[in-house]
Amino acid sequence: MAEKRFRTAIIGLGFIGPEHYRNLGLIDNVDRVAVCDPENVEAKAAKAKIHVPHLYSDWRAVIDNKNIDAVHVCAPNDNHKEIVLAALDAGKHVICEKPLASSAADTKEMVLAAQKAEPKGIRTMVNFNYTGHQLARYAKYLVQTGQLGKLRVALASYFQDWLQHQRDFSPSRCMGESCAWEDIGSHGTDMVLYVSGQRPTELMADLVTYNKVRDKPKRPLLAFEDPHKLPPEEFDQVDITTDDYAHVIMLFDNDFRANVTATQVYAGKKNDLTAQFIGATDSYAWDQTRPDEALFGHRFKPNEALDRGTLSVEQLAALSIIPPKHPIGYGKATANQFAEFYESAASGKTIGDYPTFMRGHNVACITDAVLCSKRQGGIKVPVSYLGLS
Ligand SMILES: NC(=O)c1ccc[n+]([C@@H]2O[C@H](COP(=O)([O-])OP(=O)(O)OC[C@H]3O[C@@H](n4cnc5c(N)ncnc54)[C@H](O)[C@@H]3O)[C@@H](O)[C@H]2O)c1
Repeated sequence: MAEKRFRTAIIGLGFIGPEHYRNLGLIDNVDRVAVCDPENVEAKAAKAKIHVPHLYSDWRAVIDNKNIDAVHVCAPNDNHKEIVLAALDAGKHVICEKPLASSAADTKEMVLAAQKAEPKGIRTMVNFNYTGHQLARYAKYLVQTGQLGKLRVALASYFQDWLQHQRDFSPSRCMGESCAWEDIGSHGTDMVLYVSGQRPTELMADLVTYNKVRDKPKRPLLAFEDPHKLPPEEFDQVDITTDDYAHVIMLFDNDFRANVTATQVYAGKKNDLTAQFIGATDSYAWDQTRPDEALFGHRFKPNEALDRGTLSVEQLAALSIIPPKHPIGYGKATANQFAEFYESAASGKTIGDYPTFMRGHNVACITDAVLCSKRQGGIKVPVSYLGLS
């Protein structure tokens, strides 16, 4: 029998939408048939070298197209819920960018809609792409098989510098309720929950705004325009209240705790996500900027510098569409999870370990608690999962 194929559309063509397009090109059973963006969709598609039969400027046209089987929601966070609910209602499979939405009340609605659609064979995923890397999955394997001993501490950090200067400005990131935490702290949080298999019950948050004023361009900048080379009169000064530095201590049951730190004002750091897991006997550390290496740390024997390509096939065969010894980076880790998603949609069985909407909900619940702690000066607050488990 011929393999089931999926006609897929991408909604939102900023930074991440074209990345989805490129990675979908690696998936055997997907045809990329449409893209959508309300602003200059033709120009954005041309710039990203996207070739599809349909270009739309309104996402509702994607939903109305009955020939489209799946949508990738790559629009800014505040659009996710409306588009996802409409797509599920229309019987389409959905991959939504992280964060799934900006409040736990919204993500709960999205999880419930996904659960309602699932018996009809509809699949949903949130794009926490870093857990599609084999060495992130290897961390989970070591924890699950007890090779670190009882898990004591997780340390996750995500450092960038693209908002380091006053002239650096992103309307979709800087003007919401949270910036660094929601944008990239969400990845670190998902990594800790994914590897540990646990959710925190309480947390304390320290969210800081170092750049309290930013220069907002008076007009949309062209793709090649560098704001740092424009005169001051091209900008308005706007007050900023969202965090550009965040660190959060999370407390779990069983004497396990985590510290997740996120910032976009660390000069020199471009996309440095690291995750360390400290068990009672052994430890594990992985840095996504050195994606083929990890350190398996021991107390009574030499440490092991793991080389992903030489880990045994039995351990990793199920974890990648890429053969052993072929380097894996950001894009291939994303494609790994897309492949699992579309294989699951085709077979009707869950294949692999791609991130579910429930993972997006867990992270949104933690963000709600982080903002609650921040409003009260960083005190310890409980995390509510709104009755979902
Ligand atoms: N998984 C990752 O590693 C990763 C990386 C970057 C961004 N993201 C997520 O992807 C999403 C988009 O981020 P980005 O960096 O691409 O943002 P961006 O601002 O670069 O691009 C957003 C695009 O969406 C378009 N858009 C706005 N409203 C829309 C609507 N209603 N329908 C369709 N398109 C719309 C905009 O015109 C723009 O082209 C965010 O949720 C972000 O958190 C994830």
